[in-house]
Amino acid sequence: MAIDKERVPKHVAIIMDGNGRWAKKRFLPRVAGHRKGVETIKKVTIRANELGIKILTVYAFSTENWGRPQDEVNYLMKLPKDFFDSFLPELIKNDVRVEWIGDITALPQKTYDIVVSAAERTKHCQGMVLNFALNYGARQEITDAVVEIAKAVSHHELDVESISAELIESFLTTARYGELAAPDLLIRTSGEQRLSNFLLWQAAYSEFYFTDVLWPDFDSSHLDTAIESYIQRDRRFGKVKG
Ligand code: FPP
Repeated sequence: MAIDKERVPKHVAIIMDGNGRWAKKRFLPRVAGHRKGVETIKKVTIRANELGIKILTVYAFSTENWGRPQDEVNYLMKLPKDFFDSFLPELIKNDVRVEWIGDITALPQKTYDIVVSAAERTKHCQGMVLNFALNYGARQEITDAVVEIAKAVSHHELDVESISAELIESFLTTARYGELAAPDLLIRTSGEQRLSNFLLWQAAYSEFYFTDVLWPDFDSSHLDTAIESYIQRDRRFGKVKG
């Protein structure tokens, strides 16, 4: 069945989960799952762009992931280099722009440099945005917004009365996406059904799609199935159907 491109979600966010379990099932070290997971990002990016998705936000490293064994953290920090070294020409060919949310200044210098350079080298691209959540945590994002707003109030640049949901949104890292800041569809792989501190504010009215497929096994056909499920849904945003 062909997907109706008029109805595809504009912003899709993905919690890429199950890399460790994928590796364990094969008696491989956990990092083998992360390596395979990088290949999945490539496949899913190409398909999402083909479908006309405007923003694909992938949860690559959370503020909590620093608590993993040091070897695993070190390995994860090397993945952006592998990804962009092998995939940047393809991203450019497909007009995909690389961006990020999260505090990447806390990443190792080499990782930081590679991400900034990928963003720089694709900034002219006008197709889909591939947005990496890197050292991202939604509570931190909201906390940072609150601090900035409080500073503006204390400097008399902002009245307390003017604080609204829209104003708070304008202080979040996704503000640059305007009306596309909220994901229409949020996918989590591997059978887990929770948000894990991902886009807590932005996902208020997102449709959720959970699949038992582990991230390294996820492919473009699974993305299509998630999109088809989304297209069947009736989004009411807290209202009754008009
Ligand atoms: C979750 O699986 C996956 C992660 C925490 C890391 C996801 C990162 C990538 C796939 C690569 C990032 C790549 C770039 C280019 C930035 P898990 O390890 O929690 O799996 P488990 O729940 O089965 O243990």
